[in-house]
Amino acid sequence: MLRLPEACSALDQLRQTEVQVRMASLPQVIDSEPALDALLSLPSPALIELMRRLDGDLIVLGIGGKMGATLGHLALRAIRAAGVSKRVWGVSRFHGSDIRGGLEARGINTIGADLLDRQAVDSLPRARNVMYMVGRKFGTSGTEDLTWATNVIVPTYVSDHFRDSRIVVFSTGCVYPLVSASTGGCTESTPPDPVGEYAQSCLGRERVFAYGSGIHGTPVCLLRLNYAVDLRYGVLHDIASQVYSGKPVDLSVSHFNVIWQGDAGQHALLALGHCASPPTVINVTGPELVSVKWAAERFAELFGVDVTFTGDGQGQRMYLNNAAEATALFGYPSVPLLTLIRWQAEWIRRGLRSLGMPTHYGVVDGVY
Ligand SMILES: NC(=O)c1ccc[n+]([C@@H]2O[C@H](COP(=O)([O-])OP(=O)(O)OC[C@H]3O[C@@H](n4cnc5c(N)ncnc54)[C@H](OP(=O)(O)O)[C@@H]3O)[C@@H](O)[C@H]2O)c1
Repeated sequence: MLRLPEACSALDQLRQTEVQVRMASLPQVIDSEPALDALLSLPSPALIELMRRLDGDLIVLGIGGKMGATLGHLALRAIRAAGVSKRVWGVSRFHGSDIRGGLEARGINTIGADLLDRQAVDSLPRARNVMYMVGRKFGTSGTEDLTWATNVIVPTYVSDHFRDSRIVVFSTGCVYPLVSASTGGCTESTPPDPVGEYAQSCLGRERVFAYGSGIHGTPVCLLRLNYAVDLRYGVLHDIASQVYSGKPVDLSVSHFNVIWQGDAGQHALLALGHCASPPTVINVTGPELVSVKWAAERFAELFGVDVTFTGDGQGQRMYLNNAAEATALFGYPSVPLLTLIRWQAEWIRRGLRSLGMPTHYGVVDGVY
């Protein structure tokens, strides 16, 4: 059984040193997808230690998305490095996705299931640890009903079936109100005020898990994430691509938060040690409120091109999370912002693969 206070104090000590060690060993350039995937799934000593202490198996629901495979591989590598025996399941519909074979080859037991099917949820193995990554965002406009069903009904089935598990739930910073950069970003105690139906349904997802936690005593941790950086997609990918192709960069939204997807995965898995009833809430993102103009100018320097802008970059409100609580719990991210910018520029310059999935970080009317 995981004893949380003991586990957390030992992990805190490990985190003091590990970030410095990892930063010293970061490559100058990431030049291939295998190299990228290997780095994204490199477990930290704190995560390995958590896996050594964590009781039970792990199930990742919604593993078929942009972050799922990274997180599944990260968990598996941490488990192996800890020298413990745990099964890891990965559940998704896997429609139009070629990741299933890769997951199986690495040792993740995949289950193809539509989690809107109650019977499918009820037949899932009741693992002690659940990473909940299911979500629907893009395409909401015109099919709002499917977004609500995915983000609210699936949690209803899952929170009931996994009532005896601990559950880490991926939520989003979009449940917060839009704020100006001068606020420093929303903290975990900022009251939610979601804009538009996608964000409202995400608050619905949180409320359903909180309700299940209340009636069953299920330990839950809600992660409000803004935004993960994998060099194949992400806010930095969006800005770098615009600069590289000579398109003007819109400053209507002046700032953003990002975190290396490997660090987001570490924080999410470490959050298994912070689940509670009522649920814990943690913002997961990087510590900087990054200026869009500043980032675009850094990319222009690295590409050796000029950059142009539209919009005035003044006085607007946007999605910003304050990461102070997360950095106190998990330490600072292991990949600094300037390293992310350098890696991203080189990825674009070399023409390496893009997922072709813009983040639409500039959307502030809630319509996706
Ligand atoms: N990436 C970010 O920067 C970011 C930022 C804020 C919040 N988040 C949230 O964090 C979570 C993980 O992020 P992500 O980028 O990996 O999300 P994603 O790419 O949208 O992946 C979510 C996955 O959930 C699965 N899913 C959806 N409906 C399902 C159903 N009915 N049954 C079974 N599986 C279903 C889908 O995989 P299949 O098609 O294979 O079923 C989908 O790919 C999501 O909830 C996302 O909204 C992510």
